[in-house]
Amino acid sequence: MKGSIGVFDSGYGGLTVLKEIVKQLPEYSYLYLGDNARAPYGSRSFDTVHQYTLQCVEWFFSQGCSLVILACNTASAKALRTIQQKDLPLIAPSNRVLGVIRPTTEVIDNYTHTNKVGIVGTTGTVSSGSYPIEIAKFYPDIKVFQEACPMWVPLIENNEYNNPGADYFVQHHLQNLLKQDADIDTLLLACTHYPLLIDKLRQFTPDHINIVSQGEIVAKSLVEYLKRHPEMEERCLKTGAIDFYTTDSTTDFNNKATIFWGDNVQSKYADIR
Ligand code: DGL
Repeated sequence: MKGSIGVFDSGYGGLTVLKEIVKQLPEYSYLYLGDNARAPYGSRSFDTVHQYTLQCVEWFFSQGCSLVILACNTASAKALRTIQQKDLPLIAPSNRVLGVIRPTTEVIDNYTHTNKVGIVGTTGTVSSGSYPIEIAKFYPDIKVFQEACPMWVPLIENNEYNNPGADYFVQHHLQNLLKQDADIDTLLLACTHYPLLIDKLRQFTPDHINIVSQGEIVAKSLVEYLKRHPEMEERCLKTGAIDFYTTDSTTDFNNKATIFWGDNVQSKYADIR
C-alpha cells in the first residue's frame, strides 16, 4: 500500500524543511507532525527524546507512511540511530526513517574555504557531538566549532525573534562561537527553527561568513534518495496533498505555523502520549 512521506519535528521548525522538500518534490503527498505538546526537545535527555520520537514515528507508520524524515536535529542527533538500528527491525523492517544531520554533513565542504565551520544548535544537538563526529568521517580536515543556543527556539516559538529583545541572545551566542576561531567562514544552522532568525543572524554576522540553512540540502538529498531507492519511491503516494498534524492545540498550531509556512495551515489533532 502507498502512503504519504512523513515529516516530523518537535514543533514548527520542520516546516522550514518541508517547504523546501515540497518545492523540489511537489508531486508527492506529505504528512507533517509537530509534537508541540512536548516541545521543545532541545534540552531533554537522550531517553526522553528517543521515547517521544519513536512514538511519533509509530504514529506515522499507523497513518500508512513508510518513509519518515526527522526534520529535527535534536531528534536526529539523539534518537535516529537507535530507531534505525534497534527499533525498526522489530516494528517495521521495510520502513525507513531518515534524519537531517547526515545529508548536511555530506555537503558541508561545499561551503567552507578555510575548513573551519561554526555550528549553532540546541543544547541536545551540540552536546550529542553528532556534527563533529559525522563531519570528521567525511572531512577529517574540517575543524568544527559549536555553540548551544538554548534561547533561540523559545524566541522563535513565541514569535519574539524579530524583536529587539532577541538581539542580545543572537549576538551573545554568535560572539561565543566566532571568538573560538577567527577563520570560521561558515555558520551552519543546525536547528530547523533557525532559518527564521536569518535576518538577525545576517545583521550580526560578518559579511564574509556563509550562513547555511538545511532545508534545501535535505530536500536535494531526498530527491537523490528516492532515485537510489525505487523500492521506497514506489511506496510513496503522489497526490500533491499536504496534511498537518499537531499533538497540541490545532488553533495554536494554525496561528504559529503560518510564520514558518508562509501560508494558511489547517491542522488536525494527533493523540500521541
Ligand atoms: N527544530 C529542532 C531542531 O532542529 C529543535 C526544536 C526543539 O528544541 O525542540 O533541533
